Formats: sequence, C-alpha cells, structure tokens
Amino acid sequence: MKAKNNNLKTLSRLLRGSKKYFIACIVAGIFFTCCDLLVPQIIRVAVDSVIGSAGLDVPPVVSEWITAVGGVGFFRERIWICAALVALLGLFSAALRYCLMKCNSIAGETLIKTSRDLLYSHIQHLPWSWHMKNPTGDIIQRCTSDVERIKVFFQEQFVPVFRISLLIIMSLAFMIDMNLKLALVALIMFPIIILYSYLFHRKIRARFTECDENEGVLSTIAQENLTGVRVVRAFGREDFERRRFEEQNQKYTSVWVKMCRTLSDFWAVGDFSSYVQAMLIIILGTVFTVRGSMTEGEFISFVCYNTMLMWPVRRLGRMISEMSKAGVSVTRISEILDAPEEIDASDASEKPMNGDIVFDNVSFAYNETKSVLHNVSFTIPAGKSFGILGGTGSGKSSLLLLLCRLYAPTSGRITVGGEDISSMPAKYVRSNIGMVQQEPFLFSRSIEDNIGICGADAETVREAAVTACINGDIESFSQGYETLVGERGVTLSGGQKQRVAIARMLTRKTPIIVFDDSLSAVDTQTDENIRAALKRDLSGATSIIVSHRITTLMSCDNVLVLERGKATQLGTPQELLKHDGLFKTIFDMQMAVGEEEQA
Ligand SMILES: Nc1ncnc2c1ncn2[C@@H]1O[C@H](COP(=O)(O)OP(=O)(O)OP(=O)(O)O)[C@@H](O)[C@H]1O
Ligand SMILES: [Mg+2]
Repeated sequence: MKAKNNNLKTLSRLLRGSKKYFIACIVAGIFFTCCDLLVPQIIRVAVDSVIGSAGLDVPPVVSEWITAVGGVGFFRERIWICAALVALLGLFSAALRYCLMKCNSIAGETLIKTSRDLLYSHIQHLPWSWHMKNPTGDIIQRCTSDVERIKVFFQEQFVPVFRISLLIIMSLAFMIDMNLKLALVALIMFPIIILYSYLFHRKIRARFTECDENEGVLSTIAQENLTGVRVVRAFGREDFERRRFEEQNQKYTSVWVKMCRTLSDFWAVGDFSSYVQAMLIIILGTVFTVRGSMTEGEFISFVCYNTMLMWPVRRLGRMISEMSKAGVSVTRISEILDAPEEIDASDASEKPMNGDIVFDNVSFAYNETKSVLHNVSFTIPAGKSFGILGGTGSGKSSLLLLLCRLYAPTSGRITVGGEDISSMPAKYVRSNIGMVQQEPFLFSRSIEDNIGICGADAETVREAAVTACINGDIESFSQGYETLVGERGVTLSGGQKQRVAIARMLTRKTPIIVFDDSLSAVDTQTDENIRAALKRDLSGATSIIVSHRITTLMSCDNVLVLERGKATQLGTPQELLKHDGLFKTIFDMQMAVGEEEQA
C-alpha cells in the first residue's frame, strides 16, 4: 500500500508540467473518436433513407434538422452533401489527430525533461554513502531507460486508453442496436483476441528481457575491451577477447532471431483470427440482410464498426500487459527520489575551521559486518603538517572521508577548533578542506576548466599550476591550458593527473589541505619541489599527508601510524624513529633500498 502511494506521489512529480498536454491529448482523442463513430451512421442513413426508401432512424434533433433543411428529398437530389459530410468529419478528425500527435510529443518530451531534471538534482544532493552503494550504470539506466518507459506508457497506453474505451463501448452499443445476434458473434471473438494478445505480450516481455540482458553483456565486453585495451595488448589477449565477443554476439543474435520468430507467429495468428472474425461477420451479415432482419445500410455500418474495433481490441491486450512494465519503472525511480538527501542539523552553524583538528575516540564501520576504525584519538595542531602512515586497508582514506563529513563516525567525535564538525553545515566543512583524492578524477574538459572547476580565474589557475609543478608540462602541450583531457584529448600520465588534481585543490585556498597518497605517482624530486612550493605558498594551512614515502613523512611535524584501524604510534618523525614499530621498519627498509640504489 505504502509502495503504491509512493509510486503515485512519484508519478505526480514526474508529470509536473506535462499533465496539461496529456489532458489535451485525451480530449482531442475523445473528439476525433466521436467523429470516427459518426461516419458509419451517416453511411447507414445515406444508404437506407437517402438512396433507399426506408424511414429515417435518427435521433429527434437530427430529424428536425433534416426537415428544416428540406427533408430527405433535399438530400436525395444533392447526394454529394452526404459525401461532403463524411469528408468534413474525416478532415476534422485528421486535424484533431494532428493536434494530438503534436501535444503528445510535447507532453512526452516535457515528462522526460522534468524527470531527468528532478532525478539529476536529487542525485546531486544524495549522500556520498548512497553513491558508494549504488552502481553508476544502474543509476544511469534508471534516469534514461526507466524514464523513457514511463513516457512511452503515457504516450502509447494511457492517452489512447480513453479513446479506445469510448470507441469499443460506443461501437458495440451501435452494433447491438443494429443487430444483437451479429453483435454477439463479434463479441465472442473479442475476449479471445484480447486474451491471446495479453498472453503473447507477457511471453514476449521475457524474450525482450533476455535480449536486453544479452545486449548488456555484449556492451560490457566491448566497453571493458576498449577501456582496458592496454591490458589486452600488453598480455597478448586479442584473440581470446575477440572470441569472447564473437560468442556473445552470436548468442545475442540468436535470441533476437528467436524473438522475431515469436513476433511473426503472433502477427500471423492475430491477423488470421481477425480475418476469420471479419469473414464470419460478413457472411452472417449478408444472410441477415438477405433475410430482411438487417437493412443494407445497417450491414455496411456494422462492418465499418467491426473493422474500426479490430485494431484497438488487439492493442488492448498489449496495453494491459505493458502496464506492469511502467509500474516497475516508476518503483525504480521512486527508489532514487525517496532516498533521503544529506541534511544538516537544524542548529548547524558555520564556525572557524582554522583551529586544531581533534579525533576523539573515533570508531567507524561502513556496514554492520566489519569495523574499519577502532577508538582512534589524535590531535593535529593548527598550521602544522601531519603525516599518516599505514598499510593497505588500514583505514587512512576512511579517516579522511570522516573529516570531510562524507561519512559520520559510528562513535566518538571530530572537532575543529573545539567545535564538533557534525554541528556545522556539511557543505561548509567541505568548502574549508581542500582534498586531493587517492584516485583523482578529471573531467573530459580543458585543463584550465579542470583546475578552475570551482570558478577560479585564469591567473589563479596558473599560480596553482606553478605551485603544483605542472605548469611546465601544460605549457609543453600544443594547446596549453586549452588542451582537452580524456578520451577526446590528451592522455595525462598518472603523475600529471595527480598534479592537475593538486592544482585544482590549491585554487580554493582552504585552511585545511589533505593529500590522500596524492604524490605517489610523482618522482621523489618533484614530490619535494611540490612540498617546498606548498610550504612557501600555503604557510598557515594545516596539511594532512597520507604517504608511503618515508622522505615525505620525515618532513612532517607529526606522524600518525595506523594499523588495521588502530592508531599505534603518534609523534614527531624523530621520536618515532627512536622506537620499534611500523614507522622505523619502513624507514629502515626504504633507506636500505635508497643506499643500494646509490651504490
Ligand atoms: N565504501 C566502502 N564500503 C565498504 N567498505 C569499504 C568502503 N571503502 C573502503 N572499505 C573498506 O574499509 C577498509 C579501509 O579502507 P581505506 O580505503 O580507508 O584503506 P586505506 O588505508 O586508505 O588503504 P590504501 O592504502 O590501500 O588506500 C578496507 O578494508 C576497505 O575494504
Ligand atoms: Mg586509501
């Protein structure tokens, strides 16, 4: 029940802006169906009473109008008026159909736009943890395919259902009025056609899903191959990858051929049953007309209604079976729209972020099964550099994510200048921390745009690039700062990417700067140059440097050693060297390697 309510709420949000167009489509549809329904009636009256001599069988209003104009005789002398009336109705119906199609496209595109805007804006405000849990491909599919499916449902099922229902009800009413027995023959066939169509579309849906899944596997193979082309070439796996692709391609083709065969069967059986029904009506109708239980006009009119009904009746089965598909898509979109946005405490306020940073008994777990940090306590004095050393998976990156309020500690608290960061707005905390992530991400834009992503001007971008020791590399590219990064432009080396990311962080001039193993891909000399430039340009900022390079850590004021989520050592590098522990072990190892290299 709750899910149903949520779906309705989601639908009403998605339909914002397009509702009025869909309503206009429904109204236009009802009007042109009325026009279509009138045509067989005009033909019946023309054949029976204008050409023939039967009495007028029309509603009193129409009868009065015919008398006022000059009676049946007037029309008999001018039979073209009947033809003109049919043509006029056809013209009016065509104009309304045109309006409906136009409105329907506007409605559909408006629905798509509203839905994508809504989803995109909501996704932007969802917490980091939500993004970590939900695969990007799935989110994109919900924002594209699912939205498209809802649009198709409204355009091709919801809008037509009103006019189709009107057409079926009214045609059947006219048919029953003209000849009950013949109407019953038509009626007996309709449930069979609808049921067959419904069962078929349920079956074909499973086939479609199979095709979709196979297409997904095929594109994943192709995408992985193209992205990982270096690995494929380096390991000489071209033939293996080609065979893998060919096998999947063959499978995909087979399921499509299977589906096309099922589709052909359906159309053949559907057409056959429709023709059998039409033939039955014509044969029995002829018999009834010859026997005199039906007039010629009624017979022609009956056949017209029966033909008009056939297509909507066949479509009804499909519409019923497709409705559930749209329902699934609405649920999938609701799951995104109902995910709670990141909300600050009601009394959250901005406080200075240039004080000491204190981790006070902080524990943290991503999920119930495994704890990542255990009662970690330490202080980072304001304006000092603070190194963090720890093995892979010891919780260094997690610790930094907590500081940026991208996650909240399971217990304990983190304060800056004595104020708990959870009592400050998350956006404010992040705007005061410049973080270079372990795996920096660059957008497929120019280097200038990538560095100045937070709105920095050209001069600031260049200053930051000089400090990050990347200016020389950028200027060596033929298009300098305008060089495009990524698939459409240059491929930057790992070290260049890291330095572009450092420059991007520097443009913000934050009181706290964080390097999550961000100098690992640059050589020792460049590492030293960058740190010297940072010291010169950012004096006063508190810097936190996660590094495995002992020379980097030796230049820090304090170092924390993290082992399996526990803080095992804390002090100046010189103090740590006096005691046995991870820091001294790594120091001895790296120094020995350094001496070997020098020798
Ligand atoms: N989003 C996540 N969900 C669940 N577990 C995670 C998530 N991110 C990291 N972990 C787990 O938390 C632990 C600590 O990871 P973290 O990234 O903090 O380690 P790290 O010290 O930065 O390691 P590295 O030196 O390799 O970067 C690891 O066991 C990791 O598998
Ligand atoms: Mg890490």
